[in-house]
Amino acid sequence: MSMDRIDAGFGDVLDRAGQLGAGGSVTPTASNVRADWSPASWRTKPAMHIPADYPDMAKLDAVEKQLSSYPPLVFAGEARTLMSRLADVAHGKAFLLQGGDCAESFKEFHPNNIRDTFRLILQMAAAMTFAGGKPVVKVGRIAGQFAKPRSSPIEEIGGVTLPSYRGDNINGMEFTAEARTPDPQRLVQAYAQSAATLNLLRAFAQGGYASLANVHRWMLGFVERSPAAERYRALAARISDAMDFMAACGITPETTPALSQTEFYTSHEALLLGYEQAMTREDSTRPGEYYDTGAHMVWIGDRTRQLDGAHVEFCSGIRNPVGMKCGPSLAPDDMMRLIDRLNPDNIPGRLTLIARFGSDKVESGLPKLVRAVQNEGRTVVWSSDPMHGNIEKTDGGYKTRPFDRILNEVKSFMDVVEAEGAHPGGIHLEMTGQDVTECTGGAHQISALDLQDRYHTHCDPRLNNEQALELAFLLAEKLAAKRKS
Ligand code: PEP
Ligand code: CO
Repeated sequence: MSMDRIDAGFGDVLDRAGQLGAGGSVTPTASNVRADWSPASWRTKPAMHIPADYPDMAKLDAVEKQLSSYPPLVFAGEARTLMSRLADVAHGKAFLLQGGDCAESFKEFHPNNIRDTFRLILQMAAAMTFAGGKPVVKVGRIAGQFAKPRSSPIEEIGGVTLPSYRGDNINGMEFTAEARTPDPQRLVQAYAQSAATLNLLRAFAQGGYASLANVHRWMLGFVERSPAAERYRALAARISDAMDFMAACGITPETTPALSQTEFYTSHEALLLGYEQAMTREDSTRPGEYYDTGAHMVWIGDRTRQLDGAHVEFCSGIRNPVGMKCGPSLAPDDMMRLIDRLNPDNIPGRLTLIARFGSDKVESGLPKLVRAVQNEGRTVVWSSDPMHGNIEKTDGGYKTRPFDRILNEVKSFMDVVEAEGAHPGGIHLEMTGQDVTECTGGAHQISALDLQDRYHTHCDPRLNNEQALELAFLLAEKLAAKRKS
């Protein structure tokens, strides 16, 4: 048995024992196992945004080989379960909440940061589930979200030119030649951080922290005087009342695991394909099926979705749910060819299209994409990334995103997708559970001048805990209106 068959398939044990359902996947037959694809076949295609300037490429190969013998972070059966949850989203029976850092970093690796992001996702999901009356599928941009595509491969400061920072799994942020030189050993550190992060997330999700009985305690550490906090407190009180009623009927977190545990999934951009390949394993119970065991779900970025490029090639062959960012430069015909490549069997939940237009472009750009998908009878999850089309630079030199533009893009997205007869199924956010000042606006009216106070991101500006919760309440209102209509 080759090394890449060390069991993506343990998940099937989980499938059967846990009765989580295998949904979404088709049993492999000669026709759905592709002879022309392998975890390495992307290497024959043009690859954008993957560094080739490692001083010692043999060392990179050795590290990738080493990683390919390490334990998988997730199991195939879990990825299949997520696929079936996303199939529900595609059919309008659930909502997808995907969020976390733009880039995780070695420096900010701390249990409190992981807890705060997890808690924020729980709070947001509680607001949206309560209002929408539908399950919220929770997917973090976490436990592997390190590599970043950059607009320029070089950075110049004061006459000195160095390679750009590309994410902590590639090089360092510090503006020195040494830090900016890609170092393969960083991949091992990123793997270790991802494993420890996922371990804590699994404990939070299953060990009692996520029990709805704790809905009030998730409040701790939150900015007490904020309007979003007020609304959250009122919501928590209503959930508690509902729990008291159910307890009186004999339904408690002790008797009902759905109240005491939650499902939580991980995702990241499949950018650094050498790492993704190293994490890809054949499912020993389903020969010919390969899973990227570095995350439950991965996505292709807006800058790497070339039809004949390496990233599309890699993602076309793995069996995880995959996402694809769709920005203003994507023509409907090209999108349809990408859908053919990424989801030829039209499996619901396999493909999530993540629209990231910008608040000023979404109304003109998105309808034709949704219409093309509808006309060709394809089933996808439509999700909104209201972050990446709304970046501005302040006079003080900070990259920021005005909160109003983010809210407007989400509102327009929901209206457009619905008007075309499809389901606005999800949201994709860059956010943190910390009280940072990176996006302007929100209830506390963060101004351009305030940004310097707590601007900690390693890449793009994130919503802070209050802004994210405020956005969740807006979504909750929209979902509640939809429920009544
Ligand atoms: C991202 O999600 O961090 C990102 C780079 O997005 P996009 O590919 O949409 O620009
Ligand atoms: Co980003």
